[in-house]
Amino acid sequence: MLVTKKLVNVSDNEKFILQAANSNTFINRQELLNEMVCELGNVNSNTGYALFGKRRIGKTSALKEVQRRVFRNKNIIVIYFSVWDLIEFTLTEFCKKLSAKIIDAYGPTLGLKFKAKELIQTPIAMLKKILDERELKIVYNNLELFILSKKDIDENSLIENTFYLGENLAKKTNTKCVLMLDEFPSVIDLKANNNKIGGSILKKIRSIFENWQRTSLVLAGSTRSTMNLAVLSSASPFYRQLIVKEVNAFEYKYTKQLLLRVLDIPEAGIKEIHKFTAGIPFYINFIGKCLERVSKISLETIKETENKFLQEEGNILFTEEFNSLSSKERLIIISIAKGSHTPKEIADAMENKISNINRFLKYLIDKGHIFKEDSKYFIEDAVFERWLRGKEI
Ligand SMILES: Nc1ncnc2c1ncn2[C@@H]1O[C@H](COP(=O)(O)OP(=O)(O)O)[C@@H](O)[C@H]1O
Ligand SMILES: [Mg+2]
Repeated sequence: MLVTKKLVNVSDNEKFILQAANSNTFINRQELLNEMVCELGNVNSNTGYALFGKRRIGKTSALKEVQRRVFRNKNIIVIYFSVWDLIEFTLTEFCKKLSAKIIDAYGPTLGLKFKAKELIQTPIAMLKKILDERELKIVYNNLELFILSKKDIDENSLIENTFYLGENLAKKTNTKCVLMLDEFPSVIDLKANNNKIGGSILKKIRSIFENWQRTSLVLAGSTRSTMNLAVLSSASPFYRQLIVKEVNAFEYKYTKQLLLRVLDIPEAGIKEIHKFTAGIPFYINFIGKCLERVSKISLETIKETENKFLQEEGNILFTEEFNSLSSKERLIIISIAKGSHTPKEIADAMENKISNINRFLKYLIDKGHIFKEDSKYFIEDAVFERWLRGKEI
């Protein structure tokens, strides 16, 4: 397909955006989307998916695009929920917010006139009056749990109540429910009574999932190690229960399409941006956004923009992440960024200051910063890597 430049026609909200792509800005991923939309859009199937891929690669955007497309069918209710949107990170908050999302998604189908948030503030007697019909009884029972026994509801009934809510509503309304849980592996970090609940929640959700007839589960997550724990490895609860799809970086032609939609850039410039961003759409958008302010875009101004991006935006994006690492992890990740890839090379680069390098390499893998291939270690995010190269060991 010919990519046309639409310099004048692109309205402000369709330019480079840093939130998840919307229906106007979404490009690429057609194969993945078509498959998911077809399967999830089939009311007779409850096959689910697990998407994994690096941070900022476009998982959330893909989920939301699938949601938009599947939701066109009035008999399918699609709920998108990101575990990273939680604030307190407690199990109660998770169940409460997810329940509210499910109720709100079903609101129109149920003829509910109030949002879950308003319902939860309604006095219980009045709520009972409003919701005491057959279909709405499920909603009432769910809300009652959160309203009445705020303090010590047991974990199991909280999870069961929440994860059967969509399924029960689907049965009552003769619809299908699609539950999308973004950054799913982070559920193991939820807290109950001030302790992390850990892997037990995965098993619990898995056992509920087995009983679903009208719900499809879609999970997504960024870090390999946690997705392994939850979905991908043979020891994980969701192993072989979901169709696994990796979301990859953009190929060159899509980097080009994304940029040319808004900007007038010479081919050499597009190549440079593709190399710099490693095809990660977030960075392509970010560089694109910086270039909107440049009057004449050339290879030189692009390189200047990239350097400025690393110094200014890079500091904002990466400093906190970097500082959250231990001092040894920091040294190791910098030396990998600067070209040491084996434990021996890393040890040499640091003049043998750290003895148990393998242990720290494992931590860095668990945190999603590096990966291992053929006994060598590499940084996951090419832009973070460039930023790290500017740091001193
Ligand atoms: N298919 C796409 N088309 C256009 N832009 C995209 C696409 N996928 C992702 N992006 C852009 O990349 C950035 C990160 O995407 P996001 O979906 O949040 O990634 P992830 O969930 O994997 O971290 C956003 O700025 C978004 O606009
Ligand atoms: Mg995301």
